[in-house]
Amino acid sequence: MSAHGDPIPMTARKSGPLKGRAEVPGDKSISHRSLILGAMAVGETKVTGLLEGQDVLDTAKAMRAFGAEVIQHRPGDWSVHGVGVGGFAEPSSVIDCGNSGTGVRLIMGAMATTPITATFTGDASLNKRPMGRVTDPLALFGTKAYGRQGGRLPMTIVGAADPVPVRYTVPMPSAQVKSAVLLAGLNAPGQTVVIEKEPTRDHSERMLRGFGADLTVEATDEGHVITLTGQPELKPQTVAVPRDPSSAAFPVCAALIVEGSDILVPGVSQNPTRNGLYTTLVEMGADIEFQNPREEGGEPVADLRVKASSLKGIEVPPERAASMIDEYPVLSVVAACAEGKTVMRGVKELRVKESDRIDAMARGLEACGVRIEEDEDTLIVHGMGPGGVPGGATCKSHLDHRIAMSFLVLGLAAQKPVSVDDGSPIATSFPVFEGLMTGLGASVERSNK
Ligand code: S3P
Repeated sequence: MSAHGDPIPMTARKSGPLKGRAEVPGDKSISHRSLILGAMAVGETKVTGLLEGQDVLDTAKAMRAFGAEVIQHRPGDWSVHGVGVGGFAEPSSVIDCGNSGTGVRLIMGAMATTPITATFTGDASLNKRPMGRVTDPLALFGTKAYGRQGGRLPMTIVGAADPVPVRYTVPMPSAQVKSAVLLAGLNAPGQTVVIEKEPTRDHSERMLRGFGADLTVEATDEGHVITLTGQPELKPQTVAVPRDPSSAAFPVCAALIVEGSDILVPGVSQNPTRNGLYTTLVEMGADIEFQNPREEGGEPVADLRVKASSLKGIEVPPERAASMIDEYPVLSVVAACAEGKTVMRGVKELRVKESDRIDAMARGLEACGVRIEEDEDTLIVHGMGPGGVPGGATCKSHLDHRIAMSFLVLGLAAQKPVSVDDGSPIATSFPVFEGLMTGLGASVERSNK
């Protein structure tokens, strides 16, 4: 699959029980961070289990453009020879981050306090997404940004020559914004403080500490107060990337809605800032056993044994949104196959992801015969019960991997096949999706084979 080539129409059909072991790839958030922090450390960082999705490969290429040596030794096994905090070289050409908001926003932060200039671009999806949420706080360090109207890419960032430390309250729940400010704070003197009212994924905090930065997190009435001491020498690490709970969500949800299924998804990160979907599924009545809980690569992980289940709709607490923000599309598919309605509130951030995910899911589910209600911040799905979704539509993926995979999961349990107009974006985060799903017994194929 290519994320940048021709569209790849795909179709999923009603499938027999899914059985077997689903080894999902490495975590995307941790993979990006291991390359970026590796590039900012002095010496050689080793990474195992790196996600080799297009998003992460684009970040690897970017780190090379900023002067780090990034080498693939074997599939999943990489090393990064870093140039140290403040050691980035000026790239000689435009940095293309492809489809990846995480890649571009974190890299902008990482270079923002070094006196170099870089121009960033992306694909048609990324070039529509707001960058002001990152360039506004970076301006406080003294960084300049020149982009298109509305703070869109392509955009040139001029790093601050004499950065000052910053105290910044992140106005929306966004780990990308938090992380961009922390990465910028690395090369500012003194202490940079980031306050987040709602906790978001904490991989940057865990990994910065792992690389030797002095970083504290305090829970206060204002929220989490994260204090980073600038200009450390980051020490190279060996990073073992755990499997991605956001990718695991697809086989897990498929097994729940395909009758008779029983699968094992080993080694999935159970980081509490990422596992909201699993809590929600259990509340809906999902039969998921969290076996063999342990720690891998500094993250809590477990093996998930998942059996087909009869599910009921629930109200998802809005305060859980940040811990499952990428999982609402596939949750809305599960909700369509449950009895009763599932109410998802406090989800307006979904509108500025790789696509407007509320709109993309609402239109596709409607086309498949599911009743939905939506407003700016809410998606409500009226469940049709097991085997109740008519299907029989082609849904638009809008250059969004998670939308494409969600509708293909729906097709496995719907009465008639469900197609997506373009499955190529799946390669950005889950390049082995098709083979992994068919290996479990799912009928997923490229429509024009
Ligand atoms: C990510 C943060 C989230 C998430 C994205 C990965 C990260 O984005 O949706 O897939 O690795 O920091 P936001 O920061 O926009 O919420």
